[in-house]
Amino acid sequence: MAEHAGAWYVEAMLPWSRASLLCVPVALAACGSNEGAEVDTSLGLDERPANSSCIGSGEFPTKLSNHACFEGDLPRVGAALVPYSVNAPLWSDGADKQRYLALPDDSALSVARSGDFELPPGGVLVKEFSLGDTRLETRLITRDTDGDWHAATYVWDTNQRDATHTTDGASIELDDAVWLVPTNDQCFACHTERAGIALGLEQRQMALEFEYPATGRTADQIHTLSELGLLEGESDDDPLVPPGDEDADLEARARAYLHANCAHCHSPGGEGQGELDLRASTPTRLTKTCNELPQQGDPVESGGVLLAPGDPASSILYVRMTSEEDSWRMPPVGSVVVDDLGSALIADWIESFESCPE
Ligand code: HEC
Ligand code: HEC
Repeated sequence: MAEHAGAWYVEAMLPWSRASLLCVPVALAACGSNEGAEVDTSLGLDERPANSSCIGSGEFPTKLSNHACFEGDLPRVGAALVPYSVNAPLWSDGADKQRYLALPDDSALSVARSGDFELPPGGVLVKEFSLGDTRLETRLITRDTDGDWHAATYVWDTNQRDATHTTDGASIELDDAVWLVPTNDQCFACHTERAGIALGLEQRQMALEFEYPATGRTADQIHTLSELGLLEGESDDDPLVPPGDEDADLEARARAYLHANCAHCHSPGGEGQGELDLRASTPTRLTKTCNELPQQGDPVESGGVLLAPGDPASSILYVRMTSEEDSWRMPPVGSVVVDDLGSALIADWIESFESCPE
């Protein structure tokens, strides 16, 4: 009996996953009956990870292995970092990307009226880039406890054992391509104050089914974050349609692509310097694209407009996405390789217009 009482005590004090290890030899029956009550399988994770170490700050040690959010000699994201995904990723020259967030205990993402999720002070966002098995960069956006934002990238060493904090950009020779690491200033060319610094943290991007590697369960990401206390509030914004989903509506896919890849600069007051408004929330007829004359020069020889119904080759929006000339190419930073699938999607979309939408 005494042993039993002890086991119950230990269990009450420990998070469930660790308690269950102790259960096996001591009190199998009791633990078994508890398990169903403890784990909600509609959630992707069994519990919110405790976080005492991965707290956002403006300090970035030279080596990633010395950063408090990473663990091990071969640094990997620590246990406090929760993986997440977005519906419409930014095109990054074909690199694979993994995303993670960590929040201080007892804090949560909050929902702004725009549907953006605001990172609380002390929060950390991580995006890891790789091509095949080669790790390229581990990027961080952090908010310190005063609420100030910071950005950093760590470039993986050629031997892939650690990564080094790099602020002034770099160019990495790969087998058949060159990978350009942005400078610290270039991070803020896209991650602007006006756009809310964090770009993918919004209802539209995060409302999806995500497969959580830790449990193998596929679960509603918003529901999981809310139930675990990582997200407070709600937004009724419609999710973006994944641009790569060929069964989905063409217009919705194209608008999702432009939202994720272009709207952080091309929206009112943005860095895009024109009138274009490519946010998914703006109806297509109000995007200032269709039959609009360019304000920033014309790369089309016989005269182009930003979007010519049915005619991608006369549509500057499409021409600038596929241009081989750096001075025309969009986006102007963050990518050097044309996104073939993304630009084909925009061409299909433009071809589908018979006239400007009313
Ligand atoms: C061309 C614009 C662009 C540049 C340059 C850029 N980013 Fe981003 N970044 C984005 C967009 C758009 C997202 C959201 C979509 C996604 O995750 O694919 C994002 C996502 C992120 C995220 C995940 C959190 C979030 O904001 O959604 C981190 C972390 C991040 N970027 C860090 C950096 C750092 C550090 C740099 C500079 C070294 C940088 N980025 C440069 C556009 C950019
Ligand atoms: C980092 C900010 C940034 C991003 C991201 C970006 N642009 Fe731009 N864009 C600019 C700036 C700055 C200009 C004006 C300078 C120039 O003409 O190059 C511009 C100009 C344009 C113009 C010309 C507008 C006119 O009236 O002449 C088009 C069209 C355009 N961008 C399309 C896109 C598309 C499509 C994407 C996404 C695939 C995109 N841009 C992503 C910053 C950006």
